[in-house]
Amino acid sequence: MSAIESVLVENRVFAPSPATVKAARISGMAAYDALCAQANNDFEGFWARLARDHVVWSKPFTRTLDESNAPFYKWFDDGELNASANCLDKHMGTPVENKTAVIFESDDGTVTKTSYRELLTRVSQFANALKAHGVKKGDRVLIYMPMTLEGVIAMQACARLGATHSVVFGGFSAKALQERIIDAGAVAVITANYQMRGGKELPLKAVVDEGLGMGGCESIKTVFVYQRTSTACNMVAGRDKTFTQALAGQSNECAPVAVGAEHPLFVLYTSGSTGKPKGVQHSTGGYLLWAKLTMEWTFDLQNTDVFWCTADIGWVTGHTYVAYGPLAAGATQIIYEGVPTFPNAGRFWQMIERHQCSIFYTAPTAIRSLIKLAEGDSKVHPDRYNLDSLRILGSVGEPINPEAWMWYYKNVGHERCPIVDTFWQTETGGHMINPLPGATPLVPGSCTLPLPGIMAAIVDEAGHDVPNGVGGLLVVKRPWPSMIRTIWNDSDRFKKSYFPEEMGGTIYLAGDGAVRSADRGYFRITGRIDDVLNVSGHRLGTMEIESALVSHTALVAEAAVVGRPDDLTGEAVCAFVVLKGARPTGDAAKAMAKELRDWVAKEIGPIAKPKDIRFAENLPKTRSGKIMRRLLRSIASGDTATQDTSTLENPAILEQLGQTW
Ligand code: WTA
Repeated sequence: MSAIESVLVENRVFAPSPATVKAARISGMAAYDALCAQANNDFEGFWARLARDHVVWSKPFTRTLDESNAPFYKWFDDGELNASANCLDKHMGTPVENKTAVIFESDDGTVTKTSYRELLTRVSQFANALKAHGVKKGDRVLIYMPMTLEGVIAMQACARLGATHSVVFGGFSAKALQERIIDAGAVAVITANYQMRGGKELPLKAVVDEGLGMGGCESIKTVFVYQRTSTACNMVAGRDKTFTQALAGQSNECAPVAVGAEHPLFVLYTSGSTGKPKGVQHSTGGYLLWAKLTMEWTFDLQNTDVFWCTADIGWVTGHTYVAYGPLAAGATQIIYEGVPTFPNAGRFWQMIERHQCSIFYTAPTAIRSLIKLAEGDSKVHPDRYNLDSLRILGSVGEPINPEAWMWYYKNVGHERCPIVDTFWQTETGGHMINPLPGATPLVPGSCTLPLPGIMAAIVDEAGHDVPNGVGGLLVVKRPWPSMIRTIWNDSDRFKKSYFPEEMGGTIYLAGDGAVRSADRGYFRITGRIDDVLNVSGHRLGTMEIESALVSHTALVAEAAVVGRPDDLTGEAVCAFVVLKGARPTGDAAKAMAKELRDWVAKEIGPIAKPKDIRFAENLPKTRSGKIMRRLLRSIASGDTATQDTSTLENPAILEQLGQTW
């Protein structure tokens, strides 16, 4: 039975225990319903109250929502605040001041603890260093850092000055970096000499140098280099500064710069269905409100919790649930530099035990790979570790199949910890559809119900609601504070991508298909409806990978990329390639496939490397010359039953397309 079929017949329900309900912030479904009713009855009043209660404003707002220029919605826009002050300064003089903000565990297992007071000092000092090098409010700063405390400090320091950060995941290539620097018009790069992952030292600064060397990056005035390891790296005189050099003599006090609520806190690039990655622009006020509030709602965060989100700061999850949310909520959080399988696949369980983690938030891909390893080797099975500190588990980034859900629930949560399966996106800024641990009965594989105030619905192509049990397009009918504000430099693309004219131009189209269960109305996400793939929870555009392949002009004549289901990574990248020369076979095909994979790694990053490469003399096309992507998808997944080849111009190539290298 496939994962999807088993969800369709899913009838296991796990209600929270009475004790969990009793202790929770949102206690029971009646409390959830009451919040939803408040949002329904007085939408603006609901959000205004939350924004007053959860955000520290240096100038209070008087306007809650401005829809006059929809879909360019504005929230709290005459209010002023500083994001870093909301994460750090506000805790000074409270019991949180001396609480541990971050437990950092490095790749090699070294642990350092940093209090809120110390973190404020370090962020302030780094902000002063940025300021001394000319970085100011409104500038863009590109961050290309390992998953270390210094990455969070860099983000917070930018926020402190009102500079807009753009974090690029350390697995992206020099070319990807260069494109983002140019698009954002960044004035500085913050990076490290190397990053440590799984015991290996991987270069970061060398990649930055290569990207800057590709040209067009003249806006960059300074490159700040954190010396993560003792290995030397190339330093360009006048342009490059080590952290030590930049911080020397800087005061550890820096007044936070107040910005308007709509001021762009960050731009984060993500893949879309066409063209280049888009710079998703987020606001300061609305974003911060939701980052803090969802920590309290979704994770039921309590004062004594030790929170651990395993996402890298290069992704939106690492923005909202590492760099901002936990700090705004005054939590103690774990930040881990390395990979889940080093030195062995028991690393996560060992760290949960060592640091007494109580809320653990990770991706289905990580769970699936750890299941496989744990079931193969009892030494790395969660049973070997004391996981009694856990009270809530979370899942993010891709659909979690019920089998993985059940394993996580039993073996990690010991049937005691609710699993919050959180559906959201880079564009939504924070959680959208997920259970509340002290209220919502759980159904494996379902993200259950929208958070209060999030007007999610499922509609047909014309924008009309579909009944429960019928699949359709996931939309959000009203704006919400942490939503994407625009695509950096491309407001047209923003409107076209997310607010289709056919639906009136003001309803947010998520890009996912979904269906609500007939009995409870629970949402289940059925996957992207566009050409975006989700590989190990990483978003990749098929068009982006196709462009990368055909940019190898010496070799490649034509390429088509589709996704296919993969047990471990959710989806896998499958590339169909027509070469300029003859179709290779045997060792020549293997060598060619390797060359093309390396090429994609160089153009985009190793995460985009196609798992399957298939060579054909031609791509399957209709008589009007369109590539038959649907057919390619069924060929890629080995699903012969659905292969309608009746309109295929050249049926002979089907066999060639079946062979993977
Ligand atoms: C998918 C990650 C099913 C979805 C936070 C979405 C999910 C895309 C879930 C966004 C989930 C995310 N269940 N699918 N709980 N969470 N997705 O921008 O297809 O990296 O559109 O944001 O991931 O990916 P992004």
